[in-house]
Amino acid sequence: MNNTQIKEYLNYFIEQYFQEIENLPSSDILKIADSSQLEKIKNINIPNEGRKIQEVINEMIEDVYDYRGKVDHPRFFGFVPGPADITSWIGDVMTSAYNLHTASWMISSGASCIEKKLIEWLSKKVGYDTTKSVGLFVSGGSMANITALVTARDNKLSPETFHLGVAYVSDQTHSSIKKALKIAGISPQNIRKISSDLNYKMNISELERTIQEDILKGLKPFVIIASAGTTNTGSIDPMYKISNVCSKYKLWMHVDGAYGASILLSQNYNNLLNGIENADSLSWDAHKWLFQTYACGVVIVKDKNNSVNSFSENPEYLRDLDVDNGLINYGNIGMELTRPARYLKLWTTLQTLGTDEISRRIEYGINITEYVEELLEGLDNWEIISKPSLAIINFRYAPCGISQKQIEDINNNISKLMLQSNYAGIFTTVLNNKVVLRMCCINHETTKEDIKNTIAKLDEFAKKLLEDMVTLVI
Ligand SMILES: Cc1ncc(COP(=O)(O)O)c(C=O)c1O
Repeated sequence: MNNTQIKEYLNYFIEQYFQEIENLPSSDILKIADSSQLEKIKNINIPNEGRKIQEVINEMIEDVYDYRGKVDHPRFFGFVPGPADITSWIGDVMTSAYNLHTASWMISSGASCIEKKLIEWLSKKVGYDTTKSVGLFVSGGSMANITALVTARDNKLSPETFHLGVAYVSDQTHSSIKKALKIAGISPQNIRKISSDLNYKMNISELERTIQEDILKGLKPFVIIASAGTTNTGSIDPMYKISNVCSKYKLWMHVDGAYGASILLSQNYNNLLNGIENADSLSWDAHKWLFQTYACGVVIVKDKNNSVNSFSENPEYLRDLDVDNGLINYGNIGMELTRPARYLKLWTTLQTLGTDEISRRIEYGINITEYVEELLEGLDNWEIISKPSLAIINFRYAPCGISQKQIEDINNNISKLMLQSNYAGIFTTVLNNKVVLRMCCINHETTKEDIKNTIAKLDEFAKKLLEDMVTLVI
């Protein structure tokens, strides 16, 4: 293939892609490959002789990419949606084209300089002293959490005491924390799940009591994980109270802000995370509420002196890459050596949209979630289970006169019917043993009309299911 042909094929792909995203709001939310489609994919052989690229592009569009949940669809409200901005996509494409290797300053000085600048900029939003903080971009919240928790472990424990180390999470903490602690060598028996209060925030008196009990048992409490935006409800753990407990017992405070830290870029709501500046480390996903394509997360450690040598290795074949002048080779403070310049897409977005627009988009998410609440309050039989918090709301259809089991069935089926209709993506979760419907509204392209129609459909499905249930009993 010559360069002219390559450009033609790229243009061809872009034409196809843009046709699709222009029709996104009216397209289906979810398409799952059935067994015959899976068979078709399985039967695509790896050829001995290469095929025509246009044929391969078409095949991938039709047979692979098409079978997905559209996490960027304006009516996809499930899990944490991925409303990536086109500027992130452009940054990603450019960065892939240059294929930067960003483990060291020598091989990627321009990009490393941007990584440093972005980390400093984000650190400042947290309230850290940027001359002391350090951080790096990683693939996402899970990697950020493990990077921070290994750092916490190495600061507070020694290899001889790893088995005594105790970590404190809440019953709302994301599962990636438990995974990270297990990988870091902390026994699951030494992970304390503190209950949360009525607002799904960590219960501080239980936390302190449990720490004291563990100390009496001869164990070594070493880290408390606070959530800045839990996945279930968007609740924010009490930052100041947790940091006070950490100071009192000399524990590391890690904040999982994978979902919610982006609120720090909102002009009107950034104070919701006051106290986060006391955390020793923080995880923050840009591919969640900073409109980035996957995979783009950040981990920041407040004091670089505490970013001990958990990840630093200096083999002889990398000796020429050593740096001084206070610079850090990013491959030395995280898991990855070969790593992409995943932050350049965030840079492209920030440069192109500007921070006012980012703030507007984040605040729009908060506002439309409040609109969901307002609409539900105007309808019969709907119960708000967790009020809007960081653009997440949980609710359920709970008419009188039917059992809890029947309420559970109705809500499970409402979600299923909505998915079958392919109008909106709304999934369930469980809060205090209640099956609830959950909406995470962070896509700035979701219109009020989308919300209004979605709630109307939910109500329609709910009434129909209730009617069927009553008819069945009669
Ligand atoms: C609060 C929280 N922490 C961590 C994660 C894990 O992030 P990732 O999926 O980017 O690894 C998530 C994912 O939804 C999350 O919501």
